[in-house]
Amino acid sequence: MSVSVCKSVLITGCSRGIGLQLVRELAKSSDGPPTIIAAARNPAGSTALQELSKTYPGVHVVTLDVENQQSVSAALEEVRSIVGDNGLNCLINNAAIGISVDINTVTPEVMMKTFQANSVAPLFVTKAFLPLLRTAAAQSTGMGIHRAAVINISSILGSIAHNWGEGANFKSYAYRTSKAALNMVTRCLATDLGSDGILCMSLHPGWVKTDMGGPHADLTLEESVSGMLAVLSSLTDKDHGGFKDYRGDNLPW
Ligand SMILES: NC(=O)c1ccc[n+]([C@@H]2O[C@H](COP(=O)([O-])OP(=O)(O)OC[C@H]3O[C@@H](n4cnc5c(N)ncnc54)[C@H](OP(=O)(O)O)[C@@H]3O)[C@@H](O)[C@H]2O)c1
Repeated sequence: MSVSVCKSVLITGCSRGIGLQLVRELAKSSDGPPTIIAAARNPAGSTALQELSKTYPGVHVVTLDVENQQSVSAALEEVRSIVGDNGLNCLINNAAIGISVDINTVTPEVMMKTFQANSVAPLFVTKAFLPLLRTAAAQSTGMGIHRAAVINISSILGSIAHNWGEGANFKSYAYRTSKAALNMVTRCLATDLGSDGILCMSLHPGWVKTDMGGPHADLTLEESVSGMLAVLSSLTDKDHGGFKDYRGDNLPW
């Protein structure tokens, strides 16, 4: 199966990093979705995103600050007018912040700020876009991006099982906690939305060279995103409620 089975995709946090690369790969792919909605809180600040939307007519840039309910509501109306009666096939909750804080530097403010951006915002963005996902889901059968899907971009750092021994070397109370909470959001959504035919899963992109991942990360943007797109293309009901990495391997919660 290819990503072309998906008619529309909405990705948050597309000004740079993994979000921008997802838009780039989907847009230039000969069998990508015809409608790619690239959301960013400040699209004017991303020259690369502006260029992509000028080059590829299928790329629609929408302003969306995932932490601002007014911005979410305005984006919903804009996306509704783009996708029309087809609804939205795939929502990728990618926007996030990464602040490294250890036991000495963690503060309540950093915990709450990170929790708001990485755990609360994806839930409320999903909740807002549910009518559009349900519209798409009603027009198809089975499970996958051909029908309707919510993909939460999580991290292995949100795995409680992984945070032990060597896996515990990266210290960040705020980021790890926020992604563990996002994983629980995924499972709650999966329980609630499965009967609507909306697949929900958490996806770890690997450790990637971005502003967040830093220059010493394992993977280039191209390696991570091509893997993620292969995983997305092959999702079925077996992946509903799951936690996978960019290679398609299951991860421990
Ligand atoms: N890079 C890695 O190694 C790695 C590993 C595991 C998981 N991840 C996950 O992968 C996803 C993408 O990470 P990345 O490496 O591409 O990070 P990045 O380069 O730091 O980019 C983060 C993106 O999120 C956007 N964003 C942050 N807060 C937002 C808000 N309130 N509203 C809208 N957009 C917002 C940023 O927009 P602005 O430009 O406006 O700030 C930017 O586009 C994140 O969920 C991250 O946790 C990354």
